Amino acid sequence: MSRKILLIEDNPDHAELTKKILISSNDGYQVDYVDDAREGLNRIFQQDYDLVLSDYRMPSLSALDILGELKKRGKNLPLIIITSSGNEKVAVEAMKRGAYDYVVKDFSYEDTLSMVIRKAIERYNEITVRRKAEQELQESERKIRSILNAIPHGVLGLEEHHIIFANNAVENVFGWRPEELIGKSPRILYRNSEEYENIGKRFYSMLEKQQNYSEEFICRRKDNKEIICMISASRMDEGLDNKRIVAMYEDITERKRAEKQLEEAYRKLKDAQEQLIQSSKMAAMGQLAAGISHELNQPLTGIKGFIQAILMDIDKNTPIYEDLEKINRQAERMDKIIKNIRLYAQKARFKLEPININQPIEDSFMLLEQQLRLHNIKVEKHLAQDLPKIKGDANQLQQVFLNLITNARDAIDEMGRESGGIISVTTELDKNRYVVNVIFSDTGCGIKEEDLGNIFNPFYTSKSPGGGIGLGLSICYRIIQDHKATINVESAIGKGTTFFLKFPAI
Ligand SMILES: Nc1ncnc2c1ncn2[C@@H]1O[C@H](COP(=O)(O)OP(=O)(O)OP(=O)(O)O)[C@@H](O)[C@H]1O
Ligand SMILES: [Mg+2]
Repeated sequence: MSRKILLIEDNPDHAELTKKILISSNDGYQVDYVDDAREGLNRIFQQDYDLVLSDYRMPSLSALDILGELKKRGKNLPLIIITSSGNEKVAVEAMKRGAYDYVVKDFSYEDTLSMVIRKAIERYNEITVRRKAEQELQESERKIRSILNAIPHGVLGLEEHHIIFANNAVENVFGWRPEELIGKSPRILYRNSEEYENIGKRFYSMLEKQQNYSEEFICRRKDNKEIICMISASRMDEGLDNKRIVAMYEDITERKRAEKQLEEAYRKLKDAQEQLIQSSKMAAMGQLAAGISHELNQPLTGIKGFIQAILMDIDKNTPIYEDLEKINRQAERMDKIIKNIRLYAQKARFKLEPININQPIEDSFMLLEQQLRLHNIKVEKHLAQDLPKIKGDANQLQQVFLNLITNARDAIDEMGRESGGIISVTTELDKNRYVVNVIFSDTGCGIKEEDLGNIFNPFYTSKSPGGGIGLGLSICYRIIQDHKATINVESAIGKGTTFFLKFPAI
């Protein structure tokens, strides 16, 4: 490929000599020659040259002026100065101002010219290649930077636990401007040193084994606000020797909050569904119970009537008299069960009025006093005298306490102790003063842990056939609910059971 050289030389003889040398050098030069420096400068900007060869001193402009103009206009072109012997000083000055090289017009001119030009072109080529590579590198860096800045999450480049790069979005996530973070430790993005060190260790050890690792973690913003971030990190290089990683921080605080709300709503929905199922089960059971008790009531009344008629008619000493009495007792028991089922099935109508909770408690114990004495059961009452009233139906509450007392009686009997047992009842004003507590304990057999969840279910009973139908506590539960009160139970096998009732005070 031929090289195009512009020769600027005001001395025609010198120009002729130079041209001759260049053409005969066999380096394939094509030489344009101008004898005026100003004209030469114009040519440089009009045509594409590979090199300019300029005499140092010329009438219109000096070579230094040409150099200055090239620099000013950003033209990058190798320029070689031709200077007369003894003038090397100016040549050196020209080199300082950007000339590539110089040749001295002396006896060695012919030998050195070609060599100097060759060297200059080589150097120029090298520089051009290097410059292009640098430009390409800059361009690709710019592209990478704009890609990283387009990511809506904070991206940090980390080396040896220092931030070496931060994209624009770090400011949205952390409130720090990217330039504020460069050179700092990422520690400032965490709540404390211990947490920072722990997460750092975890990330580095995971990245030894795999290319990427992600984890949710609580970070801290510049304004000290805590945020939940999904941190995803990758190694920048093959190994982790120089510990360069790139980490992305996505603020997921809002998403987490929404997830939690959704979970909470879902849990509430499930609770509501369960309650609905439970209450529809209860309602269905109630209807069924009402139907059955109604159907059984009439034939039973018939049976009872006939037995009583026969009992009146026959002699007490007749052998079957005793059997008939047994049948009569069983019929009475059936009657009682049917009445109980009806009670359960009917939605009790009751009147809430201000009452003292001690009153239905006293009444219930009075009704069963004799019975409890027969069973060798001692009653301990600790009833507070200055209690606020509650809104209640005394008859319904009496039902509750009768149920609780009979259950306690049965549990004490179950222990089969000679010494019987104790039923104790305490009433008091709760610490928060808006609640009246009733604490009802016995020293009976207790309830197994796995059965505690069942005792308020209708028809759950542990008693032998004929002993109970399992409606007592479920009726209690409903009455308690209708009073906007609560009932809870604690029990220990072989030690006893305690029911805790809480009524809103008025
Ligand atoms: N104080 C208590 N001590 C031990 N177990 C109890 C006590 N109270 C209730 N239970 C257990 O809970 C079950 C259910 O009680 P619930 O009063 O509902 O029915 P029941 O007493 O078996 O029959 P019903 O009351 O209908 O005659 C009992 O069978 C018993 O296993
Ligand atoms: Mg009972």
